[in-house]
Amino acid sequence: MSEAVIELVDVVAGYGSEAVLEDLNLSIWRGQITALLGGSGSGKSTLLRTIVGLQPPLSGTVRLLGEDVQKLDDRERRALMVRTGMLFQYGALFGSSTIMDNVALPLRQHTTLPEAVIVEMVRMKLALVGLDDLESRLPADVSGGQRKRVALARAAILDPEIIFCDEPSAGLDPVVAAGLDDVLRRFQRLFGMSMLVVTHELESIKMLADRVVMLDEGRVLAVGTVGELSDSPIQEVHDFFHRVPPPMGGDHDTVLQRMGVEADEGA
Ligand SMILES: Nc1ncnc2c1ncn2[C@@H]1O[C@H](COP(=O)(O)OP(=O)(O)OP(=O)(O)O)[C@@H](O)[C@H]1O
Ligand SMILES: [Mg+2]
Repeated sequence: MSEAVIELVDVVAGYGSEAVLEDLNLSIWRGQITALLGGSGSGKSTLLRTIVGLQPPLSGTVRLLGEDVQKLDDRERRALMVRTGMLFQYGALFGSSTIMDNVALPLRQHTTLPEAVIVEMVRMKLALVGLDDLESRLPADVSGGQRKRVALARAAILDPEIIFCDEPSAGLDPVVAAGLDDVLRRFQRLFGMSMLVVTHELESIKMLADRVVMLDEGRVLAVGTVGELSDSPIQEVHDFFHRVPPPMGGDHDTVLQRMGVEADEGA
């Protein structure tokens, strides 16, 4: 097996004394894109927050990039955060700052690089996510899909070893979502970044995931490749991978076909 970027040992996590995640044991491997799925309320966001140390586990051990997250002091925690990037479920761009300033933020916070270098680094990342020429706009003045790309450029600006994405394509139309998936894949291929991506989208999972972790009510229901989980004897797992995507069936319909169908529906 390759090296683990995340290791959870007997982790219980939740709010107050109420456990949302029960006794989780899980490793996420370096260089892979791991998809995290599970129904609403199954604990996916809680798991992400616990892994990055935003929320201490009620018990158990969380190791991120080899470090026991709970044992770090503030300085060590900041150093660890520089090695990770996070794309939150609900946007989190600063509305009154330009796209340039939004993406530059981690560089200004965590480095003493000269401004000219920062500007060049931001431009490089914006080009990589396919957003040239938008640097002086405000987030409100670009599309939803473009905002996600800005957030991804910011998450990747320090060339982190791992990026966490909480439902990156939620609310995007299929073509835009597929474009975002391409960008995620590009980052993983170009830089060998590990990624943990929360998503419900079967198309995304098939296109992105080297490995899938399926949660159910705070427990790991299944772990494996898309192929392995498609053959799972567990009914819910099998059903998820064989469900017929509404409104058109089949796994081979193209994104454009589905867009056409959606346009019809909206008419
Ligand atoms: N701040 C909070 N305080 C108390 N309970 C919370 C808090 N945040 C989440 N929960 C509860 O923890 C459980 C898991 O929530 P979580 O946000 O991790 O689910 P999720 O899998 O990310 O769901 P979704 O797919 O809807 O984003 C839910 O029952 C939720 O109500
Ligand atoms: Mg969530």
